[in-house]
Amino acid sequence: MNAWQIEQFCAPLVLKQTEIPELTSPNQLLIKVKASSVNPLDIVMRTGYGNTILSTWKQVESCSTQPVIRLPLIPGRDCSGEIVEVGGNVRDFKVGDEVIAVIPGHWQGAHAEYVVTNYDCIAPKPKSVSHVESTALPFVACTSWSALVTFARVDPRNVSSQKVLIHGGSGGIGSAAIQMLRAWGCEKVVATCPSDCKAFIQQLGGVPVDYNSPNAKDEIIEHGPFDVILDCVDTELSRWSDNVLGVWRNCVHVSIVSPLLQDTDRYGVFFGVASTLLKSALRIYEPAIRGRIFSYAFFMPNSECLHQISRFIDEGKIKPIVEKVFSFSELPEAYEKVAKLRGVGKTVIDFSLTKSHQKDTATDNNIVP
Ligand SMILES: NC(=O)c1ccc[n+]([C@@H]2O[C@H](COP(=O)([O-])OP(=O)(O)OC[C@H]3O[C@@H](n4cnc5c(N)ncnc54)[C@H](OP(=O)(O)O)[C@@H]3O)[C@@H](O)[C@H]2O)c1
Repeated sequence: MNAWQIEQFCAPLVLKQTEIPELTSPNQLLIKVKASSVNPLDIVMRTGYGNTILSTWKQVESCSTQPVIRLPLIPGRDCSGEIVEVGGNVRDFKVGDEVIAVIPGHWQGAHAEYVVTNYDCIAPKPKSVSHVESTALPFVACTSWSALVTFARVDPRNVSSQKVLIHGGSGGIGSAAIQMLRAWGCEKVVATCPSDCKAFIQQLGGVPVDYNSPNAKDEIIEHGPFDVILDCVDTELSRWSDNVLGVWRNCVHVSIVSPLLQDTDRYGVFFGVASTLLKSALRIYEPAIRGRIFSYAFFMPNSECLHQISRFIDEGKIKPIVEKVFSFSELPEAYEKVAKLRGVGKTVIDFSLTKSHQKDTATDNNIVP
């Protein structure tokens, strides 16, 4: 199969012919990739980000006594495609089913023609949208679910009266989180964003606050106090916003910008984890003495989340937001686009495009201001 590979960290990605991956467990299945999104995580993994902890994880998983070399590495953390092989334990899916999927962080990814993932990392593809649109949500929705439901203990069935503040509402994670919260019935989702994205946030059902405005803090105070803060940016404003969390009623500030992977890369697993624990303790302490909770959160595959977003897309409760589409051969250009960390919605690789078919789809969707 053709696969984009990281052969050396900090070097350009290389398109290689490689073996189609084999199932190594009866819980796995093989997917022919039809579309896959590009995330900021793919960009930083090219530089070796997270390598220490992810190789240790892989070493533990494979019960190896030797350090595991992850290179060559295939990036790509989600996809939409068709199942071509299933392991013996896979009950609810069969060959030929169209699915959306996420791929665990320490496995070979989906920027290749085929990818292996676990049966609990997939859900049926939404019927009402294309593969390109379907792949805009799996990774960002699972990250949002992990932050909001697993770490901040938001109950999707009982969220209507809660007030949520999201920092970085116009990005991939922020725009997914706003839509999920609104689909769960949350009445008030306030989101910080650049001034040219305010209309976009409103279309998603959020209340925008321009993070560059001199009145940003006053506006946030006016909308608060909040039950939950989801931080996708880790800025002075997002740290300050601890002050607008409710007091002594289990209100949580959850940040997905954690120092863990950077610390373990810099200091090794033991001292890296220790350094992160120390930073976390310092970060947790001040909110805690004022009756507030702070936590870091991480992407985790979640079958319930994937099934729900697939259903919500077909019910029209959530809209996949694709900003730009690139062909498989244009993947390095897609990476350049995502590396700028600007824009709204997702950048997607469409495997059915053979030549240069770069396309702005968000404007077609009439969702970008
Ligand atoms: N912990 C985990 O497992 C995990 C998983 C996924 C992602 N992440 C991290 O989460 C972060 C967000 O990911 P993403 O996919 O949403 O990124 P993204 O799609 O690039 O979005 C970033 C968004 O934040 C906006 N922004 C920039 N500065 C801001 C500020 N000061 N206040 C409010 N908004 C601001 C950007 O708008 P403008 O730049 O146009 O202003 C952009 O819309 C990344 O750092 C990523 O590495 C962590």
